[in-house]
Amino acid sequence: MSLLLALALLAAPAGADTCVKCHSTLEDKHALILRSFSRDIHKEKGLTCVSCHGGDSAKEDMSEAMDPEKGYVGVPSPAQVPEFCGKCHSSPAYMRRFNPSLPTDQQAKYRTSTHGIRLQAGDEVVATCASCHPAHSIRPAKDPTSSVYVKNVAETCARCHADTKKMAPYGIAVTQAADYRASVHGKALLERGDTSAPTCNTCHGNHGAVPPGVASIGMVCGSCHVGNMEFFKASPMAGPWERRGFHACATCHTAHGVQKPTSALLAGSGALCARCHKPGSKPLAVAASMKGGLDGLKAAYDGAEGSVRQAEEKGMDMAEARDALDGARMSMFQARTAVHAFSAEAVAKISEEGKGSADKASLAAREAVKDFRNRRLGLGLSTFVIAFLAGAVYLKVRELEEKD
Ligand code: HEC
Ligand code: HEC
Ligand code: HEC
Ligand code: HEC
Ligand code: HEC
Ligand code: HEC
Ligand code: HEC
Ligand code: HEC
Ligand code: HEC
Repeated sequence: MSLLLALALLAAPAGADTCVKCHSTLEDKHALILRSFSRDIHKEKGLTCVSCHGGDSAKEDMSEAMDPEKGYVGVPSPAQVPEFCGKCHSSPAYMRRFNPSLPTDQQAKYRTSTHGIRLQAGDEVVATCASCHPAHSIRPAKDPTSSVYVKNVAETCARCHADTKKMAPYGIAVTQAADYRASVHGKALLERGDTSAPTCNTCHGNHGAVPPGVASIGMVCGSCHVGNMEFFKASPMAGPWERRGFHACATCHTAHGVQKPTSALLAGSGALCARCHKPGSKPLAVAASMKGGLDGLKAAYDGAEGSVRQAEEKGMDMAEARDALDGARMSMFQARTAVHAFSAEAVAKISEEGKGSADKASLAAREAVKDFRNRRLGLGLSTFVIAFLAGAVYLKVRELEEKD
């Protein structure tokens, strides 16, 4: 449809809408459409049935109202949907009238996605615009009731991607959504409402859904975990991994089921590094050294923290020791990130710095506790002396009284 026609349809008076009038007399399916549509963003913006389906909403007669001659296009097949929605959404001139900041690239991006490519090849099982944005109940992405609201996206994708029967012909996993829900990311977003954690479309794009390639996967994770990516890129593994087609991050952390990592991944049973490196090799020595550094720092920190807390419970001012502890804590974060340099030196350097801060805090706490004991001893002594003197005075007074 041309832009002018779209604008003309938009300008049609909404009052005398025979589509709605007649359809409200039809059976359940149509009643449901009308009910849903009352909350649809398109209705809110003044659009009508005709804006999408065409036809003439001034005609009472069904065949005249739903006349292809009057532009009635009826119900689009899945293959027709992108064009059907795109007639408005791909037109910057048209969309600008409503919302200048709304992107108009959905159809173009969709065409390059696995969904779009397969649809063009005749596969109608894939997602079209109307799979992710169900017709007649479309809400803006920011609305919590929208199918594409950040917390609802995983559910929307899972309708197909967790459907064993639907996905069987493609031979791909159906566990992405379940894995995601149980991951650090899923828990952060879905359980704690932390919208800085990713969901499906953060990594796959809203409309360009493709599995991120080897080159882009690291970038996807690296767009949030910047430090990890920087270290990895400069590490001795980056080059060989790229040549072998290993994903920079998902190879160790998985893509969908990312769990909270610990230093146990470095050495011991279940170590990641031992999956590819032989016992006695240099990489495993590096891994053991990094684990030693991380665990040593953690032990030093935990010990120091315990001592500082004890001193605080005795009422001692531990502000300076707390500062040193904060420094050690910061080193703990940095050392975990520096693991991604896959170099013993990088982790050792930060671990030593951190241990230095922890030791400083420990020392301050020990001094404070010693101080406290000394003071208590002093207090005890003076109490004793005072009591002794008071006793002596009492005896003396009694002696004088008896003498009287
Ligand atoms: C006088 C009644 C009447 C009017 C006016 C009318 N329709 Fe319909 N419409 C129907 C009936 C009846 C059906 C068929 C219902 C069925 O088979 O489930 C239908 C079906 C449809 C369908 C589904 C077609 C399909 O292939 O499944 C669409 C879309 C539709 N109408 C849109 C419109 C639009 C847009 C207008 C206004 C321009 C309109 N209708 C006006 C009675 C009407
Ligand atoms: C934003 C565009 C849009 C608007 C506005 C719209 N529709 Fe639809 N409609 C669609 C699409 C897309 C489909 C195909 C559904 C699908 O693929 O899931 C459809 C399908 C239908 C069907 C067939 C449903 C079926 O299950 O076979 C009917 C009937 C219908 N629309 C009626 C209406 C009526 C009546 C209105 C006005 C109250 C309306 N539509 C407004 C986009 C729209
Ligand atoms: C695989 C699911 C999926 C498909 C297919 C899809 N969308 Fe979206 N769409 C989304 C998601 C997810 C968002 C939410 C983006 C966000 O969080 O801001 C979105 C957002 C939008 C928006 C809001 C503006 C924007 O770009 O963020 C529009 C408009 C839109 N889609 C239209 C379309 C059209 C038109 C098509 C078909 C050409 C389409 N969508 C196909 C998932 C999809
Ligand atoms: C007749 C023109 C037209 C057609 C056809 C159309 N839309 Fe829209 N759409 C609009 C307008 C106008 C808005 C409101 C934009 C605004 O003001 O924010 C809108 C809003 C949306 C939004 C909400 C964007 C946001 O703010 O997050 C989504 C999603 C959307 N449309 C998807 C679709 C889909 C999917 C189809 C096809 C089934 C479709 N539209 C067909 C004109 C159209
Ligand atoms: C209507 C069903 C449906 C919905 C909804 C859907 N998809 Fe798909 N998707 C498919 C089908 C079918 C394929 C094709 C599988 C293939 O080619 O391996 C596919 C392919 C993909 C692929 C490429 C897989 C590969 O093997 O290359 C990705 C990535 C993807 N979808 C992500 C998503 C995301 C993210 C969402 C939600 C925003 C989503 N899909 C929603 C049906 C759907
Ligand atoms: C943190 C980023 C991230 C999130 C979140 C994410 N994915 Fe993925 N996804 C990936 C990466 C990376 C791959 C490629 C994995 C590979 O090839 O080993 C992938 C692959 C896929 C594939 C291709 C088949 C497969 O399993 O390898 C599908 C389908 C898919 N994702 C769907 C989803 C769906 C649905 C969601 C939400 C429930 C989702 N993804 C959330 C990063 C992500
Ligand atoms: C949109 C930003 C974003 C993207 C993209 C992202 N993450 Fe995350 N990631 C987060 C946030 C936020 C957290 C913290 C979650 C929490 O509070 O538990 C996190 C937590 C993690 C953790 C646990 C950190 C810890 O301290 O234990 C790992 C491991 C992780 N992500 C790996 C990845 C991998 C691998 C990818 C790519 C496949 C990825 N992330 C993509 C934002 C992101
Ligand atoms: C060779 C395996 C391996 C690779 C590749 C890898 N990691 Fe890690 N990652 C680990 C190990 C082991 C830890 C645990 C360190 C600890 O907790 O002691 C970790 C910890 C993390 C953490 C938590 C610590 C922090 O920095 O906050 C995040 C986030 C993370 N990795 C993200 C990534 C990202 C993003 C990539 C890709 C650029 C990546 N990882 C690549 C093994 C790996
Ligand atoms: C998926 C396989 C894989 C995993 C898992 C893996 N590596 Fe590697 N690593 C390689 C490959 C391939 C090379 C390139 C040199 C080679 O072939 O040994 C390499 C090289 C290295 C090097 C450089 C060796 C040198 O001689 O300069 C170090 C150090 C290293 N890895 C440490 C680690 C550590 C530590 C871990 C665990 C956190 C780990 N690797 C996990 C595959 C892996």
